Amino acid sequence: MKIGVLRETAQGERRVALVPDAIVKLIAAGHSVVVERNAGTSAGFLDAAYEKAGATLAADAAGIAAAKPDVVVKVRKPSVAEAKSLPQGVALVALLTPGANEDLLPALSAAKVSALALELVPRITRAQSMDVLSSQSGVAGYKAVLVGASALDKFLPMLTTAAGSIAPAKAFILGAGVAGLQAIATARRLGAVVSGFDVRSAAGEQVRSLGAQFVEPAAKADGAGGYARAQTDDEAAQNAAIIAKHIASQDLVITTALIPGRKAPILITDAMLATMRPGSVVVDLAAESGGNVEGVVSNETVDRHGVHLIGASSLPSSVPFHASQMFAVNVRTLLQHLSGEGGALKIDRADEITGPMLLLDKGEPVTPPAKK
Ligand code: NAI
Repeated sequence: MKIGVLRETAQGERRVALVPDAIVKLIAAGHSVVVERNAGTSAGFLDAAYEKAGATLAADAAGIAAAKPDVVVKVRKPSVAEAKSLPQGVALVALLTPGANEDLLPALSAAKVSALALELVPRITRAQSMDVLSSQSGVAGYKAVLVGASALDKFLPMLTTAAGSIAPAKAFILGAGVAGLQAIATARRLGAVVSGFDVRSAAGEQVRSLGAQFVEPAAKADGAGGYARAQTDDEAAQNAAIIAKHIASQDLVITTALIPGRKAPILITDAMLATMRPGSVVVDLAAESGGNVEGVVSNETVDRHGVHLIGASSLPSSVPFHASQMFAVNVRTLLQHLSGEGGALKIDRADEITGPMLLLDKGEPVTPPAKK
């Protein structure tokens, strides 16, 4: 198949969907690749590296369309205008924000596009290496600690110096999924005294295995497929009491709690922030999904009772080299999965990975399979 790599146009997006290393492997597998000029520049991958990898370059998106690719890959979904300039009948692989595309899907449909949403890669072992939500959450968890640490008025590690001994900072991570566990590991490496909290049963052991303290929830909320479910009001109140007690002594708090398909749960109230030491820092990774902290503003830092509350969004894009490298492994593995006989593109609605990702099949809306 012929693969087109489009340049990202969303404001602030620095990642690219395929990096040269991934292209070497795709070409070795018999595919050809055309890359829009400067697609990787802001991630540190220059056009010359793409050419060296064996890709051809196209001047712009129109040049990609003129090359007649079978599939185009992107990090973020295209704008409606970009969708209109996609080649007719092409397959599009990107983060398509399923469920929030009133304008985009008709435009893609008119161009007979087959739209595959990377968010919908099923969470099964076989598809783990195609899962951009996991790879990019790991990046976000790592960077959240660095963002928080640099806003903090303390060191993270314990220091023994001629100018006195410094006690380590205390870091508390709420939500111990992919992002939270990476945040715990990173905060530990930087020397903080780390604790974690989650409502899933499996989380305690994972937090402890990273050398952090697990703050036991009063009520667990295990949901389907290994995810958390929404808590009842009573459960939320019991857990809020546990968090309130622990948070007052913390210097750096990072929240990552999400529930698939719903607004993020509020875990930290304004009253809890008021108990924290002024100068402490809260980084809310769920800010884009409504936030885990009362009063958070996505993409902004606000002051609440002297606490710096950071609404962290787009963190993966702030580590664009490695975030793109990981994203590209996910996309390459998916493209190999979509490669049928003789390397031709094969979109099989009945396939257990392709089927759930497919929003449009040659422009025709695909009904999402019922959740088990
Ligand atoms: P997520 O991004 O949906 O949520 C982040 C974390 O927030 C989760 O650990 C969740 O339990 C927690 N959370 C939700 N509500 C909460 C509350 N009220 N209080 C405290 N914490 C709350 O989750 P993520 O990171 O996507 O991982 C969820 C599960 O999926 C994990 O068990 C992970 O190991 C698993 N997973 C499986 C994969 C595969 O098999 N391919 C790939 C990635 C993750």
